[in-house]
Amino acid sequence: MSQSETTAGRATDQPDPRSMKEYYEIAEQVLPGAGLAIYSNPDDIRFVVHKGEGARLQDVDGKWYVDYSMAASVNILGHAHPAIASAMSDQLTRGHLHFGNLNVPVIELAKELVDAIPCAEMVVFGSTGSEANAYALRLARAFTGRDKVMKFEGAYHGAHDYSAISTFGGGTTDMPHIANFPQGVPDGAGIPQAVQDTVLVAPFNDLEAVRKIMEEHAGEIAALTTEPVQRNIPPHPDFHQGLRDLCDEFDILLIYDEVVSGFRMSYGGGQQYYGVTPDLAAYGKIIGGGAALAAVAGRAEIIDQANPRRRGEDDYVFVNGTHCGNPLAAAAGLACLRELKKPGTYDWLNGQAEKMRREAQKVFDRHDMPVLSYGVASYWNILFRDAPPRNQADMDATGDMKASKEFDLELVRQGVYVLPINRRYFSLAHDDGILEESLRRLDAACRVWTARH
Ligand SMILES: Cc1ncc(COP(=O)(O)O)c(C=O)c1O
Repeated sequence: MSQSETTAGRATDQPDPRSMKEYYEIAEQVLPGAGLAIYSNPDDIRFVVHKGEGARLQDVDGKWYVDYSMAASVNILGHAHPAIASAMSDQLTRGHLHFGNLNVPVIELAKELVDAIPCAEMVVFGSTGSEANAYALRLARAFTGRDKVMKFEGAYHGAHDYSAISTFGGGTTDMPHIANFPQGVPDGAGIPQAVQDTVLVAPFNDLEAVRKIMEEHAGEIAALTTEPVQRNIPPHPDFHQGLRDLCDEFDILLIYDEVVSGFRMSYGGGQQYYGVTPDLAAYGKIIGGGAALAAVAGRAEIIDQANPRRRGEDDYVFVNGTHCGNPLAAAAGLACLRELKKPGTYDWLNGQAEKMRREAQKVFDRHDMPVLSYGVASYWNILFRDAPPRNQADMDATGDMKASKEFDLELVRQGVYVLPINRRYFSLAHDDGILEESLRRLDAACRVWTARH
C-alpha cells in the first residue's frame, strides 16, 4: 500500500491555514450557495480543494480523494503534470502572461489543431467552450442566412442563451421536464422568448424524429449541434452517419461540440473516433491544458467569415475577445497535446477506462446492486439501470436517477471524487494502482449502500 493511499480518504494533516469549516463560512457570505457553477452538495459533503497530484485531490483539511472529475475532463494528463507546469512557467518567465496579440504558442497551436482535427481547415479562438459553441452557431447562421438552430434534449453546449434550453431532464435535476419537441424548456430564468423560439429540440438517437423536424422547418435551420457522446448517452452505431446524411439532405450545417470529446476520445476527437466529419466543431478544455482557451474549427469558407480584414462586409461575423489566443493557455495546451500525441496514448487511456468499467460491474454484481457500469473511450458511467439510456426521456423514465445520485454522493464520502450523475473521466495518471484503490473504495460505498437499502 503506497503512502498516498494510506492517507487517501481520511484527514491526516491540515495543509491549509484555514479549515474547511472556516472557508465555508466565508464562501457562504460571498458566493451564492457557497458554490461555483451548478453543483451543490448536501451539508455533510464539504469540499474545498487544496491541491491536485496525478489522479488525486487533497482538500484543505488534508483528506485525499481519487478524482474522476479531472476538472470536468480538462486534466487528461493528470493534475500538476510537469510538462504543462514547465511550459507555463517558461511562458511566464518570458513575460508572456498576455499580450493581446498574435504570439508564437497560439500560432503553433492553431497549426496543430488544423493538422489534428479532421474538419479543421482553419480555427478561430475564444476563451471558453460556451463561447466556442455560441460562435459556431453565429458562423453557421451567417453562412446559411438562417436563424434557427437545432440541438438534442439533455445536451449541454455551454451557458449561453442558445444552449441553456432542455439541457436537463426531470430525473437529473429539479428542472421541469420535458421538451414538447421541437419546443424546449429553458434551463432557468432570463432566456429571452425570442431565443427559445429559435432553438429546435430533438430526442437523441432518433433519426426519424430529427428528419420530421427538419422537414417541418425546411429552409429555416442553420445548424444542428451534437456531442459525439451525449453525457451518459452513447450514440447508436448508425446515428452520427445518419445525422451527417440528414444535414446534407436538408442543407444544414453539422456542428460537433468537441469541448469534452476533442483530444479525449482520440487525438482527432469524436469525429475521428466515429469517422464522421462535421462542418464545424467547438473545442475547449483540453486544448488549454488547464487554462481557459477555446476554438471553433471547421471549413475555411465558414471560419473565414470572421476574417478581421472583412470587417464592414455584409457577411463578416463578429468574433472577438481580450483573452482569445492567450499565450499562457496556448503554451499549456501545446504541451498537453504533445504528451497526448505520443504513440499508444489512447489505447492505454481507453484501456484503463474499459478495465474499470468491467471490474466495477463485477463489484456491483457481487453486491447484487441493479447498477450498470458502462461507457466508451475514456468515459465511465454508473447508473441504476439495466441498459444505457437511449435519450434523455428514456434516462429519466427508466432506471432510478435518485438512487444514482445518492450512490454518487456516497462515493464522494468514501474518497472517490465524482460529480453526481455526471460521466467520469480518466487521465494518464489513472494507473493500475489508482484503479485498485478506486475499486476498494467503490466496494466500501456498495457496502454502505446495501446496509441502508
Ligand atoms: C459538452 C460541453 N460543451 C460545452 C461546455 C462549456 O464549456 P465551458 O465551461 O468552457 O464554457 C461544456 C462544459 O462542461 C461541455 O461539457
